[in-house]
Amino acid sequence: MRISVIGCGYLGAVHAACMAKLGHEVVGIDVDENKIRALSEARAPFFEPALDDLLKEVQATGRLSFTSDMAAAHGSAVHFICVGTPQKKGENAADLSYVDAATFALLPHLEAGDVVVGKSTVPVGTATRLAALIQGAEPGTHLMWNPEFLREGHAVSDTLRPDRLVYGVTGGSEEHEAVQTLDAVYATQLDSGTPRLVTDLPTAELVKTAANSFLATKISFINAMAELCDAAGADVTLLADAIGMDERIGRKFLNAGIGFGGGCLPKDIRAFMARAGELGADQALTFLREVDAINMRRRTRVVELTREICGGSLLGQRITVLGAAFKPESDDVRDSPALSIAAQLQLQGAVVTVTDPEALQNAALRFPELHYEKSTDAALNRADALLLLTEWREYQCLDPYETATRVSRTKILDGRNVLDATKWRAAGWMYRGLGRP
Ligand code: UDX
Repeated sequence: MRISVIGCGYLGAVHAACMAKLGHEVVGIDVDENKIRALSEARAPFFEPALDDLLKEVQATGRLSFTSDMAAAHGSAVHFICVGTPQKKGENAADLSYVDAATFALLPHLEAGDVVVGKSTVPVGTATRLAALIQGAEPGTHLMWNPEFLREGHAVSDTLRPDRLVYGVTGGSEEHEAVQTLDAVYATQLDSGTPRLVTDLPTAELVKTAANSFLATKISFINAMAELCDAAGADVTLLADAIGMDERIGRKFLNAGIGFGGGCLPKDIRAFMARAGELGADQALTFLREVDAINMRRRTRVVELTREICGGSLLGQRITVLGAAFKPESDDVRDSPALSIAAQLQLQGAVVTVTDPEALQNAALRFPELHYEKSTDAALNRADALLLLTEWREYQCLDPYETATRVSRTKILDGRNVLDATKWRAAGWMYRGLGRP
């Protein structure tokens, strides 16, 4: 099929490449010329494992191209909207200006029978509004909402092998003709048994925000337990193992630490609360305010613990922060708890050095005042305290004996509870985890 993908960020670039991999003829469209240039040269404009290789593989087939010209969407049977919906400045609500701009720019290029498929995370009600807009412009078109659940760092495999496909369609009927069109797009996944749910438009929009809110709640739940474990002298990692063995609870997303960040969970729960307020259902989501508050408290807690392990004052303390990305296998620093902690420590008088295998360039754009060091060895040099804040494999594999020879003082705060405390203590380190005795 001929497919256009509008918006070539973390979501769209991966989606375009994966659709081409499935055998479709795909054009990726974005207003950012730099992104288009990189993608046209089969280079991902951000770090995402497996994406560079996939881009090279599919571009060699001639099935994938990129452009900044929206007219290239003309002739595609399916148009995916993959633009961002960031948090509005100074408000909790989502900024829909990119979704609206992309839809308006697409209107003149639509033909009867085309299906516009929204993938961006939007406040419930957006799809119904956009459906009316595109049908007003071209009555024979359809709008579907097909939320995307990919995780950064696993984006290619999540797109090629999703847990489920959700199709939101006006009226929510399996018989809707657009359902067949989307089935043809995802024929490979459907043939391999991926479950598919057809819903009405608002349900499909809500599936995404509900899923992200659940994940955020799960993380904040275990972080609240970490606060209690700290107070009671218990170990949150063992507690998570034990409750996670109950299949109804499950061990995934129960890792206590410095909390969640990134371009999705924090802004999605806030936008969800804002939308619930507009709908007069704000009480239903007041618990998300607590989820957000528990999450933000983690950052303050780490700053306080760092002060404590530094003997009561951060002034002049050389602190090395291992990790800047909001999670490993990503160069994304949007709302990264690691970076926000590093900036707080610096503001309170510490001399902070931040290292990360992939995210330093993005980190420096956001917090230019911090000192960045590409080499882990150089970053460790003469540190008064180490903070492991993003659990990249290379930091998890640090040898405590070898590391001890580089630093000034053998103190480490494990913000992700991923190190073997016994091993580090045996090597002479003062080890602190979060919610661990
Ligand atoms: C999330 C959703 O998982 C994905 O389905 C959705 O499409 C987009 O938002 P992503 O933002 O890529 O994906 O990251 P995710 O793996 O969910 O992690 C989010 C944050 O939670 C990270 O900062 C991570 O470090 C943190 N986290 C995750 C924890 O603190 N503890 C955990 O147990 C799991």
